[in-house]
Amino acid sequence: MCGIVGAVAKSDVLPLLLDGLKRLEYRGYDSAGIAVINDRNQISRTRSAGKIAELEKALSCSGAMPGTTGIAHTRWATHGPPTEINAHPHMSGQNLALVCNGIIENHEMLRQAQRRNGIEFASETDTEVIVNEIQQHIDRGLDLLAAVMETVAVLEGAYAIGVVSTNEPNRLVGARRGSPLVVGIGEGESYIASDMSALISVTRDFFILENGDIVDIHDGNIAIVDQSGRPQFRDRKTSRLTAEAIALGEHRHYMAKEIHEQGAAIANTLDNRITGTRLLEECFGAGAAAIFDETRSIQIIACGTSYYAGLVARHWFEEFGVPCQVEIASEFHSRHHAVPDGCLTVTLSQSGETIDTLSALALTRELGYMNSLTICNVPESSLVRESDLVLMTHAGPEIGVASTKAFTTQLTALRLLVIALGRRFGMTETDEARLIKELRELPAKVEAALTLEPAIMEIAGQFSDKHHALFLGRGAHYPIALEGALKLKEISYIHAEAYPAGELKHGPLALVDNEMPVISVAPNDRLLNKLKGNIEEVRARGGKLIVFADPHARIYDQENLQVIHVAPVDSSIAPIIFAIPLQMLAYHVGLIKGTDIDKPRNLAKSVTVE
Ligand code: M6R
Repeated sequence: MCGIVGAVAKSDVLPLLLDGLKRLEYRGYDSAGIAVINDRNQISRTRSAGKIAELEKALSCSGAMPGTTGIAHTRWATHGPPTEINAHPHMSGQNLALVCNGIIENHEMLRQAQRRNGIEFASETDTEVIVNEIQQHIDRGLDLLAAVMETVAVLEGAYAIGVVSTNEPNRLVGARRGSPLVVGIGEGESYIASDMSALISVTRDFFILENGDIVDIHDGNIAIVDQSGRPQFRDRKTSRLTAEAIALGEHRHYMAKEIHEQGAAIANTLDNRITGTRLLEECFGAGAAAIFDETRSIQIIACGTSYYAGLVARHWFEEFGVPCQVEIASEFHSRHHAVPDGCLTVTLSQSGETIDTLSALALTRELGYMNSLTICNVPESSLVRESDLVLMTHAGPEIGVASTKAFTTQLTALRLLVIALGRRFGMTETDEARLIKELRELPAKVEAALTLEPAIMEIAGQFSDKHHALFLGRGAHYPIALEGALKLKEISYIHAEAYPAGELKHGPLALVDNEMPVISVAPNDRLLNKLKGNIEEVRARGGKLIVFADPHARIYDQENLQVIHVAPVDSSIAPIIFAIPLQMLAYHVGLIKGTDIDKPRNLAKSVTVE
């Protein structure tokens, strides 16, 4: 889940590589490095532990790095701690440098074989075996492309690599299996990167590599071949990403920007998909109606925040009689499956590159699940390419590691799917008209929820010295409590746990004292009275509660109970609205604690390792 970028350019490549790395920093940020083939045909390499800012400091100390061919990397450590020694690019001797995003599963076996050949290792990474392997093939007379082809044939695992050699200074070879890699087409220049955003300042035109592709950028030409050297033809794609969409603008952090973009993002997700009181089913793509006609149940698969969106949606589907299972993608492999007839797989993912979700999708195909639909935010992602049906969340780029607008737009998109499938399970036109009306009102309700920020900022101050917090919710709001706890953990490093409110008395109530903040969401729904009982159970034990409540829920400030009223909202879309104050709470606690909000420690935006 690192980020890689490389180029064969007309002028010095260093600024381009650094710009690309900064745009990829969301993929990992515990160390970084750059290697350039300099004007004396030597590899200049600079690496540093820490974020790209540390690399820039190291570069300013090491002096100019002229050269038109180079590769760069920002790391999320897997094998070996985030030290300079383990930072990429890795080299074999003085002439070959390589960057890799992925994990080489058979690295131990390759390492032993290479040691037997007298090779010494400089790092603790799994990547170093790749560069050594390539070097061995070059030593026996192969050129860079042929050496990479031989090497990828023995690699197991998921990876995307970029390699340069002083033997062929105007050449850059890339390869992918599992991890993403795109090829940027410039004017007399060519590039590779983990995603399009890395190259947005230099090109909008791309080839998206498929698994098993190897790209050879050589003397101004781009050739894509498979492992045996057979040419592969990939469509040229033009990115619609704009520099403005990924700019921070007036905000201090991307997370704040993305929280505040949610009204517009939801409106974009609905745009051209509803008309009058009806859903336009064509938005799911050609063939969707036939697939929905055959659907008897759905299996949602996702990770992290996207998984919580799935848990909310289960309540929505089941309300209209659509049987729905939801599973964490990384657990999908861990059990035997009795595959139901007519079961549609629905994957949820912001990035579309989460390897756990991708491999669970692959497993559903092996097992014979019917068809697949993805709800995803990145148009050119692997998940979009590998699914039968696609419903894009038009949230715009989400850069903050903590997912916010991706979550609320996923929920919005899931409401559209509820209608599409609900129609087949007896949803009436009156029901549909009600759901559409609620969706139309959503952007304004989101804007209203955002006005709670000043009140939330005050409350956030109560958290900065706390080590733990509990989040409570019931029904479709239990996943909202889970999401609130995840946001707080990620951004403030406060240990937070979420419970269905009725579960407290079965154990966790033992944790409650006046040092344990307890946060609850209280929509005005049929579970309200039971929730109120649970709130009283906490108060009776001296617990300090903060409750985000619908005014019609009639919950008011009392001793040990602070209430923030969220503008009234229909109970069915309330989860979308109640998520927003919890996002803002996490953000402001993180701000007070001074954490790195957009790049919390140990995490990465796009999780491309299993
Ligand atoms: O890109 P995806 O939606 O597939 O990512 C899934 C999770 O990695 C992601 O939601 C993660 O949990 C976020 N950091 C949560 O804020």
